[in-house]
Amino acid sequence: MDLKFGDVQETALIPLAIKASETVRPNARIKDYKAKEIIDTLGVDVSKFDPFLSHEGVVARTIMFREELKKLIRKYPDALCINLGCGFDDKFSQVDNGKITWFDVDLPDQIAVRRKVYQDRDRCTMLDGSALEGYWIKDLPKSEMTIVAMEGVLEYFSKTQVKTCLNMLCDSFPHGYLLAELHSRFLEKHGSHHDAVKNTNATFGWGTRSGREYLELEPRLTYVSERNYNEEMKKYSIRGKLFAIVGRNINNRLAVFSW
Ligand SMILES: C[S@@+](CC[C@H](N)C(=O)[O-])C[C@H]1O[C@@H](n2cnc3c(N)ncnc32)[C@H](O)[C@@H]1O
Repeated sequence: MDLKFGDVQETALIPLAIKASETVRPNARIKDYKAKEIIDTLGVDVSKFDPFLSHEGVVARTIMFREELKKLIRKYPDALCINLGCGFDDKFSQVDNGKITWFDVDLPDQIAVRRKVYQDRDRCTMLDGSALEGYWIKDLPKSEMTIVAMEGVLEYFSKTQVKTCLNMLCDSFPHGYLLAELHSRFLEKHGSHHDAVKNTNATFGWGTRSGREYLELEPRLTYVSERNYNEEMKKYSIRGKLFAIVGRNINNRLAVFSW
C-alpha cells in the first residue's frame, strides 16, 4: 500500500479513524478491517479525530445505513447501488446479497487515492463522478431501481448544491431511493463546536430541521423516513442517553427519500 498521510482528506480521516479504533475494541459494534489497515499504513496519531461523540455518531450511522440498505436490498435484490461520495467507505461488503451491482463513486482525486487501497471486485466498481454533475451516469448499467447512499457528504454542500444534487439524481434514474445523512441548523451555524470537524479545515453547509425541507428543492421526491442518530447512540452509554436529551435537535439524521 503506497498511501501517504497527505492523500487522505481530513474529513475522510474522521470516519476512518473511528471505524479503525472501534474494530479493535472488545465487543466492537462494527468491524472494518480495511479502515484499520489504512490507519495502520498511515502510521500517524489520529486520536484527535476520534472523540467520544463523533465516535458514537459514526458507529451509529454505520449501523443505521447498513440496516436501511439491507432492508431496501431485500425488497430490490437486483438494484443498482451507488455509494456517492464513498471516500474510503466499504458498504458493499456489509450488505452484498450476491446479486446487486454496486458503484463506489467520488471525485477523481479521491478515487485515485481509493485505488491505492481497494481493487474493483465482482459487481463492485470504482468510478470517477460528482454529486453535482451527471456525466458519469452514462457509464452505468440501466436498472429499474437505483439505491443511492450519501453518508457524510451533503452536510458540506450549500442549499443550491443540495438542490443541484437532488435534481441530478431524479433526472438521471427512473426510480430510486436516496439515503442521506442530514445535519442540523445548529451545526450549520456552530460547526466550529463539532468535536472532530473543528480539527479540520472543513465547514458545514446548509442544515435542516427536517428532511421534508428537501421536498421544496425537488418535488419528484417522496419523504419515506427520518431517524436521529440518537436512537442508536442512546443504546450504548449513559453519555449517549444524556446527549439524546440535550442534543435532541443537534445530532445528525438518516433520511430516506424515494422517487
Ligand atoms: C467526510 S467524507 C465521507 C466519506 C464516506 N462517505 C464515509 O462516510 O466514510 C466526504 C466525501 O465526499 C466527497 N465529495 C465531496 N464533494 C463531492 C462531490 N461533489 N461529488 C462526489 N463526492 C464528493 C469527498 O471527496 C469525500 O470522499
